[in-house]
Amino acid sequence: MSRVYLELLNEDHFDDEYVGWHSQSHTDFYSGSKRIFTKENLLEEFHSGIKKNNNFHYGIFYKENNKLIGVIKLGIVNWVHKISDMIVFIGDADYLGKGLAVDAINEGNEKAFNEHKLRKLYGGMYKDNIASVKAYLKTGWIIEGIMKDQYLHEDISQDRILVACFNPSIFKSEYHRKGLYSFEDIYQAN
Ligand SMILES: CC(C)(COP(=O)(O)OP(=O)(O)OC[C@H]1O[C@@H](n2cnc3c(N)ncnc32)[C@H](O)[C@@H]1OP(=O)(O)O)[C@@H](O)C(=O)NCCC(=O)NCCS
Repeated sequence: MSRVYLELLNEDHFDDEYVGWHSQSHTDFYSGSKRIFTKENLLEEFHSGIKKNNNFHYGIFYKENNKLIGVIKLGIVNWVHKISDMIVFIGDADYLGKGLAVDAINEGNEKAFNEHKLRKLYGGMYKDNIASVKAYLKTGWIIEGIMKDQYLHEDISQDRILVACFNPSIFKSEYHRKGLYSFEDIYQAN
């Protein structure tokens, strides 16, 4: 039973608290490109997604108190290929460490596949973002690849882990369920 539900955000949700989430230490990997998040650029991305119909900002709401605690960004959607990136962000630090990203990604998968009829979701993260890799792998996502030494984090190179999720009503093979690498393949190898 999911502890969260998703609802599309509106402009009013982009308040100081929402913007403030983006400058906490646990977002280091999220903003690994050293992007500075401001209310203006967050709203620009939000409005552009609505205008182009290719980026959906779903608020993650905690069921027990209806509090907005994070966001699932489904986008940029490529409608030709019916694929999209999907990012999860638990912004409210009080709600970290409870496995809620798993619940949120499951809800996001549901929106992407059943509502938007997408074929495949994908994403990538720093290898050290283990909480993220683990959360995705618990929700039917698989590891499709590794981009060696793709990033520089505090002057040390780091791999990018490529994850993906295939619409289970379309894709049913072993590959689509298991991918190329297990978690252990990646984290136990040197
Ligand atoms: C990634 C993120 C969504 C995870 O949120 P969360 O639900 O609070 O994750 P948890 O802390 O419950 O951790 C998930 C799992 O990883 C494990 N984990 C966390 N940090 C770990 C570490 N350093 N080493 C090993 N395992 C770790 C947890 O034990 C948990 O495993 P379990 O479910 O088997 O117990 C959250 O940290 C976040 O929003 N980060 C910023 C945004 C981001 O990086 N998004 C992903 C990029 S696309």
